[in-house]
Amino acid sequence: MANNSIVSINDLSKEEILKLLHTASLFEANPNRHILDGKVVATLFFEPSTRTRLSFETAANRLGARVIGFSDPAATSTAKGETLKDTIKMVSNYADLIVMRHYLEGAALYATEVTDVPVINAGDGAHQHPSQTMLDLYSILKTQGRLDDLTLTMVGDLKYGRTVHSLLMALSHFRVRFNFVACKELQMPREFIDFCGKNGIEYHESREFSPEIINSSDIIYMTRVQRERFTDLMEYERVKDLYNLNNAMLADSRPNLRILHPLPRVGEIAEDVDDNPKAYYFQQAKNGLYARQAMICRALGIEVTD
Ligand code: CP
Repeated sequence: MANNSIVSINDLSKEEILKLLHTASLFEANPNRHILDGKVVATLFFEPSTRTRLSFETAANRLGARVIGFSDPAATSTAKGETLKDTIKMVSNYADLIVMRHYLEGAALYATEVTDVPVINAGDGAHQHPSQTMLDLYSILKTQGRLDDLTLTMVGDLKYGRTVHSLLMALSHFRVRFNFVACKELQMPREFIDFCGKNGIEYHESREFSPEIINSSDIIYMTRVQRERFTDLMEYERVKDLYNLNNAMLADSRPNLRILHPLPRVGEIAEDVDDNPKAYYFQQAKNGLYARQAMICRALGIEVTD
């Protein structure tokens, strides 16, 4: 992608992903580096967020950049009818980097077409969430010591969950076996199943979150059923509580198993899992700071050294 924008995880080669992961580790060792003094980062959030926005803003602040932006589009001229194109063009007058979350799939790509300022996609509809993927990869690497030869089980909303789509694409660079656990309504979309088939990626689809699947997993990636993507709320009510993880279910799991979740959770992981050493979702969110520091520097063309 031109000008270092990151719209999709597919914009990054395997080498670029590995370099970003290394850079994230440098930031974890020392997150406070004033290497972006004088830069302005704009965070435009047209959809709610806690972790992504705050960790991007923390990342920019810890690097010495200034942050502008909004988390409530109703308080901007969008509410008066200003188009996304005009909003992006205006913000481009002020900022060196745009981080944007939008409810429309393709919005981030569109933004790159109307500005020369680099854009990082912070989530576009049910499409992609590449910065989440970078922190997920970093979390997997930290906890497993590798990204190859792993069994990763994705559970819940595999249809609308943009994080699982991005993660699957990123892990296609590595040797990973997948279990896709979802009900019929929320199963992994056909395009991703076809992608696995064409690329020789081993996968198994299951309606049941069985002990065999749990006990053979190195990573369990739980997801929230994305209420905001449903047009039929009755269907949401039918499927929202189908997959739940509790501590007892982990009794015979692998010692190296780690439970990931992009968060927020709304009941799919019981609170009794939180004290299990295999629960990693809060540290995972913390890793987002380092992964996003690395992504901001890449987007701004800043080389980071030890
Ligand atoms: N994982 C994630 O995107 O969280 P937020 O919606 O809180 O940013």
